[in-house]
Formats: sequence, structure tokens, C-alpha cells
Amino acid sequence: MATILVTGGAGFVGSHLARGLRRERTQDRVVALDNLRRRGAELNIPRLREAGVEFLHGDIRNPEDLDEAGPVDLIVECSAEPSVLAGYDASPRYLVNTNLGGTVNCLEHARKHAAAILFLSTSRVYPVAPLNAAAYIEEETRFALTDDQAMPGLSARGVSEAFPLEGTRSLYGATKLCSELLLREYLEMYSLRGVVNRCGLLTGPWQMGKVDQGVVVLWAARHIYGGPLQYIGYGGQGKQVRDLLHVDDLLRLILYQIDHLDALSGEIFNVGGGAAVSVSLRELTALCQEITGNAIDIGSEPSNRPADIPIYITDHSRVTKRTGWIPQRGVRDTLEEICAWIRDNREALAPILS
Ligand SMILES: NC(=O)c1ccc[n+]([C@@H]2O[C@H](COP(=O)([O-])OP(=O)(O)OC[C@H]3O[C@@H](n4cnc5c(N)ncnc54)[C@H](O)[C@@H]3O)[C@@H](O)[C@H]2O)c1
Repeated sequence: MATILVTGGAGFVGSHLARGLRRERTQDRVVALDNLRRRGAELNIPRLREAGVEFLHGDIRNPEDLDEAGPVDLIVECSAEPSVLAGYDASPRYLVNTNLGGTVNCLEHARKHAAAILFLSTSRVYPVAPLNAAAYIEEETRFALTDDQAMPGLSARGVSEAFPLEGTRSLYGATKLCSELLLREYLEMYSLRGVVNRCGLLTGPWQMGKVDQGVVVLWAARHIYGGPLQYIGYGGQGKQVRDLLHVDDLLRLILYQIDHLDALSGEIFNVGGGAAVSVSLRELTALCQEITGNAIDIGSEPSNRPADIPIYITDHSRVTKRTGWIPQRGVRDTLEEICAWIRDNREALAPILS
């Protein structure tokens, strides 16, 4: 029997992975540690317990809290301040102490127990200015990358791991990149095993979407509860594009990585739905209208938000080649599932999503 510690285990991704790991790896003990900073994370505690996951109320900024989890064989590091806007209009102290200092504590915990570590990083490690310089055309409902890109690691398929890292990327992205670097040093110096997954936009039910993070759920929730929405930046037309990855698809990849840690250790992968699972805000609005039957007014703010980019698509060719993993969930079915989840839990979710 192995013990798996999922940090940020009451969050959207952490709770989904913790429950899935418990379900699929029946011999393993799964512990979810979370300080419940994210609003709505507390709703996941009964769901974790129902699934047989142990919940530990703790903070990765405190090494003693990690010690409470005891010896572990694997850490899945999902705790974070996950907003790219964090630190812009307030102190970045929490962001840095959690996303960097806290990750170092997780690495130390891994070193102490010779545990493996899977790190949830982000596409935001790629710098903003080169992403903004991507060549794209404006179609009727979205921006679309062209195939004649000057930047290495960029094509109509999206951004690959070969994209240059020189430039600034937001403090969120910087704390994640620093953590990646430290993780790789820990793997090398202490002969640990680990993998870095640079995730694009993740979504699915039980994501507590808010204005600065979790846009797909926010969009769906506004169409159900009402409330303001705005197309912000790049002319305010809602043509910015992201690829989505359903958290179930991420779980399949994580399960594979756990089973193949020796072969994959040290790898860094771009993980996302790819071009086939991409959507613009405008298209998201149309889908939300269709699925919920509600149309709402959407405002327009032409000027860009800091660190924003017009289009991000994950080129996941590398991880697909190495593991055979391919995202299976599409935009529409993911959105339908999210809308059904909100409707089924309308009252409980109202204080958080409405
Ligand atoms: N959701 C996405 O689209 C996305 C995309 C790329 C990367 N990621 C990464 O995936 C991971 C999970 O993100 P998420 O979407 O589940 O976010 P989330 O906010 O739902 O989950 C993060 C959890 O970490 C907890 N947490 C925050 N600070 C903590 C601390 N100091 N100690 C212990 N727990 C703490 C929060 O309470 C929350 O439950 C993060 O590392 C994030 O950066 C997410």
C-alpha cells in the first residue's frame, strides 16, 4: 500500500485527482491537504470523505502541517494561488509564499520520505510578450493562429515545450517556473522521481469559477444565475481563444504517469485539450445560451488586462507521443456537464457562483 498526498486536495483539480486516485488505486491511502483558502473548497470535504480520501486541514507554507501527513510515497502538488492576476493590485506575498515557498516545503517533504512528486505547473510559464507576438488572423467568431509563426515552438497546433522562456510572465507564472527549476534540481540531487505538467485551461464540474480564474464555469454560472459578464481586451469582442482540458482527461494522464514514473521522470509536458478542444469567449456565450436557454447582456471593455494574451492553444504532441494520452472530452459535452452540475447543486453553489 502506498500513501499519496494531494496538496490543494480540496481545490478543483486536487479534489478531482484525490477522489479519482482513491477510486482507481484501491490499495493506496490518499490524503488531501488544503488550507481552504479557495472559496467553495469546503464543499469538497464531504465529497473527499465519501470517496475514502482522508482530509487534512493544513497549509503548505508550514512544514509541520506537511509532517502531519506522515511518510508519503507520492506527492501530487495541486495547491496554489492559481490566478494570473494575483499580485497585480495587492501584495504578492501570499502568492510567492504559497506557490514558491510552499512548493519548496513539498519538495523537502518529498526528499525526507524519498517520495515521487507530480507538479501541476501552468502554460503561464511562457512569457507574455512573445505570446502576444504570435501571428493570428481574425475570423468571424475567434482569433486563429496561422502556420507561419516566427517563434520556435509555435505553430497552428499551438505552443509546444520548445517555446522560448525569455521574458516576463506574471508573478504567478514566475513562481511556477521557479518551482519547476527547483523540482528538477531536487530530482537530480536527491535521486527522486517526478514529472512537471504545464497545464493550459482546466475545467469541469466542482470548479469554483470566479472573475479572475475558472472562466468557463464563471460563464456558465452567469448564464444560470444571471450577473455581469464582460469581453475584456483585444477590442472587447470576445474573440480570444483558449483550449480546454476536462479534469477527467487530466486524471487519466496522472494515472498513467504514476504507473510509468521511472520512464517519465524528469519530463516536462505541455498538457491541454489542443486545437480540437478550443473555444473563444464569443463561442462560449453561444454554447451557454444554447445549453441553458438563457441569453444575458455581455459588456465590452476594449483595453487589455495585464498579462492577457489573445490566443493560447496547447500543442500536446510531445506528451501524446511519450504516453499515448489524448484528450477525449470536447467543449460542448464539458459545458453541458458543468451546466448540469450547477443546476443540480443550484442552492449550495449560489453563495459561491452567483
Ligand atoms: N484551473 C486551471 O485552469 C489551471 C491551469 C493550469 C494550472 N493549474 C494549476 O493546477 C493547480 C490546481 O489549481 P485549481 O484550479 O484546482 O485551483 P483551486 O484554487 O481550485 O485549488 C487550489 C487549492 O489550493 C489550496 N491552497 C491555496 N493555498 C494553499 C496553501 N498555502 N496551503 C494549502 N492549500 C492551499 C486552495 O484552498 C485550493 O483548494 C494549481 O497549482 C494551479 O496553478 C490550474
